[in-house]
Amino acid sequence: MKIINLLNMKGGVAKTFTVVNMAYELWRRGYKVLLLDNDKQGNTSRAYWRYDAESISPTARILSGEWECLDEPSGELIQSTDYDGIDIITTNMSLFGATCTLMGENSGDITGRYKKFLLEGTMKDGSLICDKYDYCIIDSPPDIGINVINALAASDEVIVPVKIDKDALEGLDIVAEQIEDAKAINPSLTLKGVLVTSYQNTDGEYAGLEWLKKQWEDESSERYRKYPILGIIRYSKKVAENSFLRKPIYEYSPCCGVAQDYKKFVTAYTGKGR
Ligand SMILES: Nc1ncnc2c1ncn2[C@@H]1O[C@H](COP(=O)(O)OP(=O)(O)OP(=O)(O)O)[C@@H](O)[C@H]1O
Ligand SMILES: [Mg+2]
Repeated sequence: MKIINLLNMKGGVAKTFTVVNMAYELWRRGYKVLLLDNDKQGNTSRAYWRYDAESISPTARILSGEWECLDEPSGELIQSTDYDGIDIITTNMSLFGATCTLMGENSGDITGRYKKFLLEGTMKDGSLICDKYDYCIIDSPPDIGINVINALAASDEVIVPVKIDKDALEGLDIVAEQIEDAKAINPSLTLKGVLVTSYQNTDGEYAGLEWLKKQWEDESSERYRKYPILGIIRYSKKVAENSFLRKPIYEYSPCCGVAQDYKKFVTAYTGKGR
């Protein structure tokens, strides 16, 4: 199971939208996908119709380490979705309480909770969770807390969704710093690259994109090959106007440029079309 973390400390850059659509595109290629909703807003849980505001969420139970003491298989914390092959570890506001409690613990491995669950947890039939799925996709909040550090400790790769604006590079540098810091607990963690989101072909954004590309292509730049561009997702009014529609874009507007762009991105990412 490859664990991919969609991360950017900036809000509203389409982390959740990318998680939702990337999972769908991987599923369309026959991959088994596990979603980990690591943002207490629970937007990925909502998008796949599994949000539950009332109970202590699976993410909170994993971070507290409670699952290890239970008789039930850890796979009980994973829910199926309406898509046979996309499962989810949901979250809600209880994640906040769990992170506060975890910060107060001064013994034990407080950064390795998600990793232990994903790599050592078992399904009902006794098989390992990590053997059941091809990909685990993590949705991150727009901040850095102990839950994000736990996710970085478990991740193989980070993909950074960015919107082209004057702060985009600063946001990227912050993520790159976080990844360097996280290498202390996860040396093999890699920054896979950047996914440009909500791209509008205005003179301003075009110039911004060209400038960003140059940063990565110019061998004398300190950013050279640090943040390769993995794809460009266009802006669409259909998405902006239908954010209440909780489903992958391909399901309600397959011909829309955004649906096509996610398809293209995942084909390039996996090397497998559909
Ligand atoms: N390609 C696009 N075209 C138009 N709107 C988009 C596009 N991608 C995402 N959006 C919209 O941008 C908004 C922010 O997206 P999203 O919630 O995925 O961002 P986020 O990074 O997860 O935000 P947060 O940091 O709050 O979790 C949403 O309303 C979403 O519908
Ligand atoms: Mg989000």
